[in-house]
Amino acid sequence: VIRFLTSPLADRQGIQLKGVAVSHLDKPREVSVPRLTDEPLELIGDPDVDLIVELIGGESPARDLIQAALSCGKSVITANKAVISRHMRQLFDLAREYRVDLGYEASVAGAIPVIRVLQGFQGEHITRMTGILNGTCNYILSRMEEGMDFQSALSLAQEKGFAESEHELDTGGFDARDKLAIVSSLLYNSHVQPSEIPCQGITELNPVDLDFAAKHGLEEGERGYSVKSLATAKMSDRGLELSVHPALIRRDHPLASVRDETNGIYIEGELCGPQLLLGRGAGRGPTTSAVVSDILRLAKNTRRGVIDELPTLGQRIDYLDPMSVKTAGYVRMNLRHTPGSIAEASRILGNHGFNIEDSIQRRRFKTVIEGCTVIPDIVTVEALPLGTLSRGLQALQESDRILGDPFFVRFEE
Ligand SMILES: NC(=O)c1ccc[n+]([C@@H]2O[C@H](COP(=O)([O-])OP(=O)(O)OC[C@H]3O[C@@H](n4cnc5c(N)ncnc54)[C@H](OP(=O)(O)O)[C@@H]3O)[C@@H](O)[C@H]2O)c1
Repeated sequence: VIRFLTSPLADRQGIQLKGVAVSHLDKPREVSVPRLTDEPLELIGDPDVDLIVELIGGESPARDLIQAALSCGKSVITANKAVISRHMRQLFDLAREYRVDLGYEASVAGAIPVIRVLQGFQGEHITRMTGILNGTCNYILSRMEEGMDFQSALSLAQEKGFAESEHELDTGGFDARDKLAIVSSLLYNSHVQPSEIPCQGITELNPVDLDFAAKHGLEEGERGYSVKSLATAKMSDRGLELSVHPALIRRDHPLASVRDETNGIYIEGELCGPQLLLGRGAGRGPTTSAVVSDILRLAKNTRRGVIDELPTLGQRIDYLDPMSVKTAGYVRMNLRHTPGSIAEASRILGNHGFNIEDSIQRRRFKTVIEGCTVIPDIVTVEALPLGTLSRGLQALQESDRILGDPFFVRFEE
């Protein structure tokens, strides 16, 4: 971003870098800047500064600094999904009150201009949005599809700089949850808090799942399935259903071809039909692309004396109770390799109303847990409410025939 701000292009647009606030003044820098300070409020209070670009990350002190800048009548650009997802309504109100701009294109899906595109669907009723919004998870799952286990794929992602050493924000689904909160808030003009969204990460997936997905449906003439970490918003008469979870999607679904660190957003609207946005979702280049595009737009606004219209987020929406959401999928469980184990598992599932479509024992993945030989069993079940599924899994967990936690993975329609 600094390279752009000190380039002839920025100069031609009348954009001048006034200063940079950092945390560690004595850290070596790749670029030189006119005024380096560790006091962000100095820059915010400078009457010569029109625009503040916040790229600190995390909620604190970023949120307070954004608020301070807006309240000083400065426009703000941020890539901070943690702050925007939790405080967007209040920050948009503040920007409106002080008649300044707030650009946050870089907070979701890097170089894909998703914020602008979604705001372009104003007259549309979007019935469904399914996104691959976390490049780290998608990179890990792409490697696992090639046969790596989770830990090796994570280490490779860390080596390549996609995954942080503290990877749980990504692999636990929380980063995608923040982005889904922002996207669904814009789609339905209502502030969706990340805490409203059920969230399941990818850390429990293992090679058995990827192997099963690749082969599933082949006998029925399908092309197999991919495993993806999906962020979904579905609007129906019953309310808004939101979720971040791993799921199997058919290989002929547009999102199945989104591989490596790429992001993809699939939208279905009543009038516009299906739409797919695809591109590089994170990292230095794509994030800079989104920040720079905001800087150029907001600089133009400042010259013209106009501001962008920010959504009011005042619409009331009803959320669907996550436990009532019906989904088909499969249960993976480690069955003790002794006579009667399959019958016991079937009995428990039957008692909880699971209608089994298929059951397959994966002998190739036989292993030893707590001194007992176990064989993973994969049971495909017809759609059931998540509440029923969760009670069934609990009952399986309590059986001494099943070792470790049984795991449920959805099929995405
Ligand atoms: N990296 C990506 O791929 C990506 C993609 C999309 C969005 N984002 C978002 O972009 C933002 C920045 O991410 P990043 O990866 O560039 O983070 P980063 O490498 O950790 O950089 C953070 C910068 O903020 C400075 N800083 C930290 N605390 C500060 C404070 N209290 N006052 C002033 N400066 C402070 C740091 O200063 P020092 O240099 O002195 O330590 C550093 O220059 C985050 O909101 C992130 O979520 C990043």
